[in-house]
Amino acid sequence: MAFEEKIKQLLDLRAKARLGGGEKGIEKQHSKGKLTARERIDLLLDEGSFEEFDMFVTHRCTNFGMEKKEILTDGVVTGYGTIDGRLVYVFSQDFTAYGGSLSETFAKKICKVMDQAMKVGAPVIGLNDSGGARIQEGVNSLAGYAEIFERNILASGVIPQISAVFGPCAGGAVYSPALTDFILMSKENSYMFVTGPKVVKTVTGEDVTEANLGGAMVHASKSGVAHFVSETEQEGIQMIRKLISYIPSNNLEEAPLTNCTDPIDRLEDSLNSIMPDNPNKPYDVKDVISAIVDDGDFFEVHEKYAPNIVVGFARFNGVSVGIVANQPKFMAGVLDINSSRKGARFVRFCDAFNIPIVTLVDVPGFLCGTGQEYNGIITNGAKLLFAYGEATVPKVTVTLRKSYGGAHDVMSSKQLRGDINYAWPTAQVAVMGASGAAAILYGKELKELEDAEAKAKFLAEKEQEYNDKFANPYNAAKYGYIDDVIEPRNTRFRVIRALQALATKKDSNPMKKHDNIPL
Ligand code: HXC
Repeated sequence: MAFEEKIKQLLDLRAKARLGGGEKGIEKQHSKGKLTARERIDLLLDEGSFEEFDMFVTHRCTNFGMEKKEILTDGVVTGYGTIDGRLVYVFSQDFTAYGGSLSETFAKKICKVMDQAMKVGAPVIGLNDSGGARIQEGVNSLAGYAEIFERNILASGVIPQISAVFGPCAGGAVYSPALTDFILMSKENSYMFVTGPKVVKTVTGEDVTEANLGGAMVHASKSGVAHFVSETEQEGIQMIRKLISYIPSNNLEEAPLTNCTDPIDRLEDSLNSIMPDNPNKPYDVKDVISAIVDDGDFFEVHEKYAPNIVVGFARFNGVSVGIVANQPKFMAGVLDINSSRKGARFVRFCDAFNIPIVTLVDVPGFLCGTGQEYNGIITNGAKLLFAYGEATVPKVTVTLRKSYGGAHDVMSSKQLRGDINYAWPTAQVAVMGASGAAAILYGKELKELEDAEAKAKFLAEKEQEYNDKFANPYNAAKYGYIDDVIEPRNTRFRVIRALQALATKKDSNPMKKHDNIPL
């Protein structure tokens, strides 16, 4: 073959590989409102930055007539490129080729990018759109999944792993995304479940649609499996680009510093009047967050799940931080099972990847009742406690209002190695709320009073006495549990100064194989 012919052969093979399962498959994909695997990569990576591996890989299966079918790339597009100039590795499942199903060689391609990402310390982004295990390959496909799972596990806490689900993701295939740090699902066409509606019907008799069983909204709001939900694939891909901007490439690096044009000493007068006079009235903690962070820009994680706690990324003077805030607007900001799990996972991500944590506290305690106790509020609440206590990144805490009981200890308190703990003058640090406390402390006296009016008067007096003593930050400040009481409008400046002071913080935990967080 002449030299020119060899080049033509290469170009022809490349063109063929780029078509995946072929024109018809691409048309079908588009007709469902879905992008192809390559279109997704093009949107995700900086223009022209994609370097592809393994275009010429094909499967080795000879079962069920597979020896007669051959698609270059074997149904997954893999390689590396950049996002805002930073290296990332990517795999994108191609539904047009065998329904994006996973074969032995398909799995090897994914493992190759994961292995290289680990060696160089770069994030892995997986774009999922697959019919699951390639049925014709049998056990080789299952082994391929397990090879990926093991890599997901070993990479956890070393490089960030992000999954997007833009199509089917069912059966054991769900467990690779589940092992990664973040899952994004697009509202249309994506679903994740261990067992699909047909099998559910046979086993339990339950009639359920794909969307109701495992659609994006279900996983974003009910199960908490999905951290992000996007209206479209395009929006989802932009969200992943944004997420990458807040996080470092690996656990030995820090998140990229951005140029901050928002004045660091900006006073936010609105915060001096944000707190309602009545301590039982809600306000939106997201208003506090957007008032203090750079340019009011807050990238929320798990927005629709357990809204009584708010978590997400923002910047202070260009430094990326994780924000954790109780949300008085939902269930008074109480800690329950779901919010504890949500908060714990986020705190652990930040700690694993050197992202300082800023905690805004307004918490009336842990949610009580049989529903919570039977489902393990003890074990689950302990997750958040554990996560904060083991975190060695800079921890800055601002108590806005209530900080009661065990929840006070949990929310990045001084004794859990909180580094700098501030409080607003509206803070109330106490064992419990005044009415509960007065009823317990003066139960005997109350019993002796027969008249309801006298009882109410007595209780009100005792509540007042309790509030005068404890419904303020000064009692805690007296013991040094609060480092300073700050004017709310100064919060941005004070947090930035705290983060600057803590920038070189070094702390560590005792050597161990691994901890035993209450799972
Ligand atoms: C081989 C598959 C496939 C699979 C789809 N295809 N899934 N080939 N193995 N798992 C092929 C189809 O044969 C078809 O090929 C093409 O992909 C497109 O599929 P359609 O069915 O035409 O597409 P659609 O109507 O959109 O339906 C998509 C689907 C459906 C809902 C995903 O294909 C489906 O139910 N597939 C099987 C899902 C499944 O049960 N997978 C195994 C789960 S168990 P042609 O040649 O006609 O274009 C599992 C275990 C993992 O994954 C364990 C890990 C530990």
